[in-house]
Amino acid sequence: MTGFPQLRLRRLRRTEPLRALVRETSVEVGDLVYPLFIVEGNNLKQEIASMPGIFRYSVDLLPQEVEEIAKLGIPAVLLFGIPEHKDEVGSAAYHPEGVVQQAIRAIKQSAPELIVITDVCLCEYTSHGHCGVIVDGYVDNDQTLPLLARTALSHAEAGADIVAPSDMMDGRVKSIREALDEAGFNHISILSYAAKYASVFYEPFRVAAEATPQFGDRRSYQIDPPNWREALREVEQDVAEGADMILIKPALAYLDVIHRVRNTFNCPLAAYNVSGEFTMVKAAARCGWLDERRAIPEILTAIKRAGADVIITYHAKEFAQWQLLT
Ligand code: PBG
Repeated sequence: MTGFPQLRLRRLRRTEPLRALVRETSVEVGDLVYPLFIVEGNNLKQEIASMPGIFRYSVDLLPQEVEEIAKLGIPAVLLFGIPEHKDEVGSAAYHPEGVVQQAIRAIKQSAPELIVITDVCLCEYTSHGHCGVIVDGYVDNDQTLPLLARTALSHAEAGADIVAPSDMMDGRVKSIREALDEAGFNHISILSYAAKYASVFYEPFRVAAEATPQFGDRRSYQIDPPNWREALREVEQDVAEGADMILIKPALAYLDVIHRVRNTFNCPLAAYNVSGEFTMVKAAARCGWLDERRAIPEILTAIKRAGADVIITYHAKEFAQWQLLT
């Protein structure tokens, strides 16, 4: 008795309680991280043109926002800063009074239980918009490392729980780990954007963070989209350098990479459901072409099913609000 008609897979799909009983994957609010954009200035809450429903906040308006996030049960936020002052070496990224450093302190005061993750990268802070120092028109790896380490350290000093380098320089996890340990921050974790692809799906984010490269593109440091073995080598390298958690980015077009990394490595794995993935759903929903109340849970579930433990997503707040309604 091995096949049809005795075997009928539809039996367990007959009612919702039966389906729920055998459901293999679920997404919980506790798996989600909500990105926040912080601008310099006062009393600012600006909707981002390329990302409907997502705002940039000035530090003074953060307390209300993070209290709401914490109340929804979202465990963590990921911070991006948009500084007023940009220069060749991104000095606003590691200034002790920089916009992210101030934001970390404000969040820790108003919602101390919220995990604060910070994006460690120079692209929002450099006048040329690249993720590192430019030497002869090329992003110089080794001159960038100390600046990234300085940035991560200044975030730890301000009270960040996890620093997340997203620049794709070689050796940055090692540099950051050493800088943190030397300064007495051996308890601060590194979430490494180990496999970050040179993707078109970051475009709405670049408008949000004012971080579009002024010349060229990021293909000389981010991974070429057709490659998956290279992603495994990146992860291997970052784990060896001391990354506590690994991130794959983007998520949706790279579910195979998430799955392969999950099968090969045992460290906690995060996936970044990036701005372009968010915007595609929002645009289709606005046109009436897609029911986002169903599309978003399906997308988040797919990312978890592929193997992610944690999902960074702009949908976190709405997903959490819908969970409260059902
Ligand atoms: C900065 C950074 C980017 C994103 C996160 N950190 C942009 C980029 O590399 O161009 C993209 C996030 C998103 O699209 O939601 N290096």
